[in-house]
Amino acid sequence: MLRTDTGQIVHLADYRPTDFVLERVDLTFELDPQATRLESRLIFHRREGVDASAPLVLDGDELVLTELRLDQNEMPASQYDLSPDQLVIRDLPGSEPFEVTVITTINPEANTQLMGLYRTNGVYCTQCEAEGFRRITYFPDRPDVLAPYTVTIIADKAANPVLLSNGNFLGGGNYDEGRHFAAWFDPFPKPSYLFALVAGDLGVVEDTFVTMSEREVALKIYVEHGKEDRAAYAMDALKRSMKWDEEVFGREYDLNIFMIVAVSDFNMGAMENKGLNVFNDKYVLADPETATDQDYANIEAIIAHEYFHNWTGNRITCRDWFQLCLKEGLTVYRDHEFSADQRSRAVKRIAEVRHLKAEQFQEDGGPLAHPVRPTAYREINNFYTTTVYEKGSEVTRMIATILGKDGFKKGMDLYFERHDGEAATVEDFVKSFEDANSVDLKQFSLWYHQAGTPLVTASGIYDAVAKTFTLSLEQMIPATPGQSTKQPMHIPLSYALIQDNGALLDAPKVSGGQVTADVLHLTEKAQVFVFENVPTRPVLSLNRGFSAPINLDFKQSTEDLVRIARHDTDLFARWQALTDLALPNLLQAAKDAREGKAITCNPVFISTLLEAAADEALEPAFRAQALALPSEADIARELGSNIDPDAIHKGRQAILKAIAESGQSVFENLFNTMKPEGAFSPDAASAGKRALRNSALGYLAYVTGGTERAAKAFADADNMTDMVQALTVLAHRFPEDAATAEALATFVKRFENNPLVLDKWFALQATIPGGDTLNRVNALMEHPLYVATNPNRVRSLVGSLAFANPTAFNRADGEGYRLLGAQVTQIDPRNPQLAARLLTAMRSWRALDASRADHARAALLEIDRTSKLSTDVRDLIERMLK
Ligand code: ARG
Ligand code: ZN
Repeated sequence: MLRTDTGQIVHLADYRPTDFVLERVDLTFELDPQATRLESRLIFHRREGVDASAPLVLDGDELVLTELRLDQNEMPASQYDLSPDQLVIRDLPGSEPFEVTVITTINPEANTQLMGLYRTNGVYCTQCEAEGFRRITYFPDRPDVLAPYTVTIIADKAANPVLLSNGNFLGGGNYDEGRHFAAWFDPFPKPSYLFALVAGDLGVVEDTFVTMSEREVALKIYVEHGKEDRAAYAMDALKRSMKWDEEVFGREYDLNIFMIVAVSDFNMGAMENKGLNVFNDKYVLADPETATDQDYANIEAIIAHEYFHNWTGNRITCRDWFQLCLKEGLTVYRDHEFSADQRSRAVKRIAEVRHLKAEQFQEDGGPLAHPVRPTAYREINNFYTTTVYEKGSEVTRMIATILGKDGFKKGMDLYFERHDGEAATVEDFVKSFEDANSVDLKQFSLWYHQAGTPLVTASGIYDAVAKTFTLSLEQMIPATPGQSTKQPMHIPLSYALIQDNGALLDAPKVSGGQVTADVLHLTEKAQVFVFENVPTRPVLSLNRGFSAPINLDFKQSTEDLVRIARHDTDLFARWQALTDLALPNLLQAAKDAREGKAITCNPVFISTLLEAAADEALEPAFRAQALALPSEADIARELGSNIDPDAIHKGRQAILKAIAESGQSVFENLFNTMKPEGAFSPDAASAGKRALRNSALGYLAYVTGGTERAAKAFADADNMTDMVQALTVLAHRFPEDAATAEALATFVKRFENNPLVLDKWFALQATIPGGDTLNRVNALMEHPLYVATNPNRVRSLVGSLAFANPTAFNRADGEGYRLLGAQVTQIDPRNPQLAARLLTAMRSWRALDASRADHARAALLEIDRTSKLSTDVRDLIERMLK
C-alpha cells in the first residue's frame, strides 16, 4: 500500500532529541526476491532525565512485522501498538540497556518506489535517504540517531556472488543449501539514511589508494558484467578526489575499503552511503564511444561529491532534515572547488552560474521558493532542491569570500574538530567560522533563512574635478511564500575599476563601508561607496566571479560592457559582460517577434562576440561559453511575466542567424581548426576544443550548406560528443530533412543495446523546438525501446520535453501541460519521487501569458482532482496552486 498524504507538516521548531539512545545495530538479512527476512537487533537505553513511562517510537512504512522480542523474549501484544507507520513499545526498562529484536518481511521486487530495498536488473540495492530505512525495518529513522552497524547478508550464492554493506569486511563463507553469507562492520556511528546493502552478480574493477598516513585502502567499483572497461574514468576520478580532499581540506579516508556500485534504476544521481556509494550508472560508466565530454565532467563531479560526503555528511551529519544544506550545500561547494582545480576555474564558474540562474533563480522566483534552511516541510523528498544544493553552495562560497582563504580553512578545521561524530546544525557550522575568526556572522546568516534572489541596483557617477567615482548600491529582497518582508543582507561584491587603457586601477582608496581586498561589503539597504584618486572615468566591473548570487540591475552602456568584455582580468566578468551585451538584443527580438516586427541586432555586440570567439589568447572552452547565448529559459526569466515562448524562440533564432551570417568565416575557421590532435582524451583542454568546434557547427547551420555540413560531421564523428552534437544540429535545425531521419536511424541501430546512449537519442528528439514535437514524444513513448519504469529513460523523454523544450512544452493549446499531467498521475502510484520531480517543470506557470497560464492551471487542477496522490505530488500541487 502506498503511503498517501496525511497532510502532516513537520516543523523545525518542534525538534527534540529522542527519548532513547541507540547504542548498537545488528542486522541479519536473508535475501529473497519477494520475501526477504530481516532480523534487526537494536540495543537502546533510556536517555538521562527521560520519564520512565516514555514509550519507544519506531518508524515504519509498508512493513510486515513477523516477530518482536524484548531481550530475546517474545513481546506480548499488550506491550506494543502497531500502525502502518509506527511501532510504539511501552513498559521498557529504566536506565539499563535493553535489546529489541524486530523481524520483518519485505518484498524487494514489489518495491517500485526505489526507496528502501529494491531490485534493479536482478541486483538487490538500497536507497535510504531521506526516509527509506523505515521501509526496511521499524527503526528510529532520523538523522540524529547514530550507531555502529553490524550487517550479515545471507543469499543464494549462484545468483548473488557479491554481498556488500557498509564498513569493513568481517568475513563470509558458505551457509546452507546453495546459500552463502558475508558480514560487515561499520565502526563509525551513522544514521540509518547512510545504510546500504547491495547483492547480486556484478563485475568489479579494483585499485588501491594510499592515504596521507600511509594506510592502504582497497577501491572497488561494481558494475554489470561486461561494463568493467567503462569504469576506468570513475576510478581515476575517485583517486583524484581522495588526494584532493587530503591536500585541500586535510581529510583522510577512514575505512580500509571504499566501494561504488553502479545501478541502472535510480531516482537520483548517487548516494553517499558510508563506504558503499550507490550510483546511477549514468554517473559511473564512460568511454569515448559512448560518453560525451559533459558525461565525463559529470562523472568526475559526482564521484567527488559523494566521496567528499564521507566527511561532510557522514562523519559530521545533520541533526534533522531541516539542516540538509549543512551537508549538501557544503559538499556541492567542495565538488565545485575540486572541478575548478582539475579543470579551468573560470569556465567551471561560468557553467555553475549558468546552472544556478537557470534552476535556482527560477525556483527562488516562483511558488516553490524556500530558504536554504527551511523551517517546515510536508515531504522531505521535495527539499532536495537546487536551493538547498546550489544556493547552499553559494552561501558557503560567500563565507570563503568574506573570510578569505585562510579564514575559511580555520573555520572548516574547527568545524571538523568540534563536530566529528555528531549530528550538527547550520548554527554549529556558522559558529565554527565565527569562533575561528573572531567575527560576527549574524547578518550574513540571513542567507540561510531568507528566500528569494536579492536584487541589487547599482549606479555610478564620475566627478572629473574631484577625481572621485561614487557608487550607489541598493538591495531589495523580493517577497516569497510565507516571507513577505525581509531584512537587508550582507552581500559581498567583488569589483574592479577598469581604466581607459584597459588596465585595472590598483587598490583604489574607497570609503562608505567595509572593503576587503577587492570586495565591497553591502550590508545596508542603501549604501554609497566613494573611490578617490580616480584619474579618468572608470568602468566598474561588479560582482566579479559572481561573488554573490544576486540579480544585478546596473545600466551600463554598450561601450562600458565592451571594455569589460575585452579587458577584465576576471574571465567570468568578461563572460558576464558578453551576456549583458547579448540580453537586450534577445529581449528586444522577442518583443519584435511577438509584434510581428523585423528583428535587428546591435552590430557592436556581434563584433565583440566574434572577436572573443576568434581570440586565440582565450581558452577554447571559454570561447564556447561566450558563443552559447542566454537560453530561451534565461530570456523568459529576464522577462519575468506574460511569457510567450514562441516569440522568445523566434527572436533568439533571428539573433543566432545574424551572428552566423556576420561570423561565417570565423565559424568556418573554428570548425576546420579546432579538432584535438591524436587519440581521444576527455581532458578539459580537448573537451574545450570540441565544444568550440561544435558551437561553430551549430552557427554554421544557419548559413547555406548547413544540413550537409552537419550530416558530414555526424558521419565523420569518432567520439560521442561530436556525434551527439552533430545529430542535435540535424534534429533541431532540420527535423524534417531526410538526412536527419537517416542519422537518427543509424544512431539508434548502432546503440540499441546501450541504455545510456539511448537516453541521449530520446532526449535530443524530445528537445526539437516547436509544437510538433509533442506528437513525436507521444510516438516515442510507444517505441519498443522506451521503458516507462526506468527513471533515466523517463527523464530523458518526458523530463527533457518539460524542462528543456520551452516551445513544445508550452504549446499554445496546452497539450504539453496535459501530457505532463497524465505522466505525473500515471507514474505517481509507482514512483512518487520521479512523478514529483517531473511536476516541478511547471513551477513557473504563473509567469506565462494569460492563455497559457489558464491551460497550465487547468492541468494542475486535473492532477489535484486525482484521488490518491502521494505526499510528494500533493505537497507540490498545493504549493504551486496557492
Ligand atoms: N545525498 C544524495 C546526494 O546528494 C542525494 C539523495 C537524494 N535523496 C532524495 N530523497 N532525493 O549525494
Ligand atoms: Zn550530496
